[in-house]
Amino acid sequence: MIQFPPNFLWGAATSAYQVEGHNVNADWWSWEKQAGKENSGAACRHYELYQQDFDLAQNLNHHAHRLSIEWSRIEPKEGEFSQPELKHYIDVIGALRARHIEPMVTLHHFTNPLWFSASGGWEDRRCVGRFLRYCDVVVRALAKHVRYWMTINEPTVYFSHAYIYGVWPPQAKSYLKAKAVHDHLALAHIKAYPLINKIYKESNLPKPFISISQHIQAMVPCAPHLRNRLAVSLRDKWFNFELLDQFMRHKTMDFIGVNYYSRQLVDVGSWWIGHLLMDVCSKNHDPVKKNSLGWDIYPQGLYQVLLKLKKYNLPVIITENGICTPDDNLRWEYLYNHLKNVHLAMQEGVHVTGYLYWSLLDNFEWDKGFGPRFGLVDIDYRTYKRTVRESARKFAQVCKTGILEA
Ligand code: FCB
Repeated sequence: MIQFPPNFLWGAATSAYQVEGHNVNADWWSWEKQAGKENSGAACRHYELYQQDFDLAQNLNHHAHRLSIEWSRIEPKEGEFSQPELKHYIDVIGALRARHIEPMVTLHHFTNPLWFSASGGWEDRRCVGRFLRYCDVVVRALAKHVRYWMTINEPTVYFSHAYIYGVWPPQAKSYLKAKAVHDHLALAHIKAYPLINKIYKESNLPKPFISISQHIQAMVPCAPHLRNRLAVSLRDKWFNFELLDQFMRHKTMDFIGVNYYSRQLVDVGSWWIGHLLMDVCSKNHDPVKKNSLGWDIYPQGLYQVLLKLKKYNLPVIITENGICTPDDNLRWEYLYNHLKNVHLAMQEGVHVTGYLYWSLLDNFEWDKGFGPRFGLVDIDYRTYKRTVRESARKFAQVCKTGILEA
């Protein structure tokens, strides 16, 4: 029997654009049409159905829920802030509180207002001031109701997909631009941290807990020769830990938010830097089960990653971990094995204080559309009917008792 501590935060995560529907002022909304991608459309209709969705979360014994605020709703035109949309999120958070579910709020989860992107997005130096202005408005409106903030979701995934691989808007392929975006995202967090704290202080509220959600992959060498090991340490440094190191130096993290899904089986063809940073084993040398997007399922990687976070000496919250699969037994197997590894890391002294499964609902998986099914709850996209999966019920037992049973 595996027992987690009594006040561990259990729940699930979502992001606004992926579940709400009709985020017509977001850059992604126009891009998905231009690029001929599947359209997010009504998504899960969560914007209207959030009460019903939170009833489900409550019935599944969740006592934390991660959501994001859609910037393009709050500030549809530069400098014009929408009171009705602010009120909407106050209601959403109130609905969580009414169900005794702790809201954990992300300020930026991949999408931007269209006006922001059209005037340079995260490449333009003005982005940091613009983001802080938005944060100021949102945090002032929600401070009373929120204790946990994540400023930015997965900065490394955002700048690599949008500015290196060129598969997300604005589809740039430029290391130079990627570097600027990286630096601006880092600065945005570093400046948002004292701003959020200041607002709480001015309002006489207890200090909030602030972090980012950092995407971390387990970097695993295929054959453990020097070149692969060097590649692993470079990738760990630049992709996984560089931002965390920076934020530690600036003392701008109260906990570490980790999104963990998979491993990279590192097998490098040459000493060229591009290969050192990108190559993965293509020869299926260490075959493991995969999710429906082809990502390796590698639960021990979560243990390895958590141990590498020990040096920061901060509480860790798993802000995303999950699987897309049509096979719900495999979902439970994934959840079970990952939780087992979280517990193992805790026994080795990593201070993990929460676990949020990605995702509460099936949802719009960015450029991959609605195909991948990550949800604890199935969505029928014709009727928007919600159906709780068996894995969700098993996870609900863990949320209720803190006990993980085989
Ligand atoms: C993460 C994102 C989240 C979702 C999952 C599957 O990288 O933060 O929005 O798409 O992957």
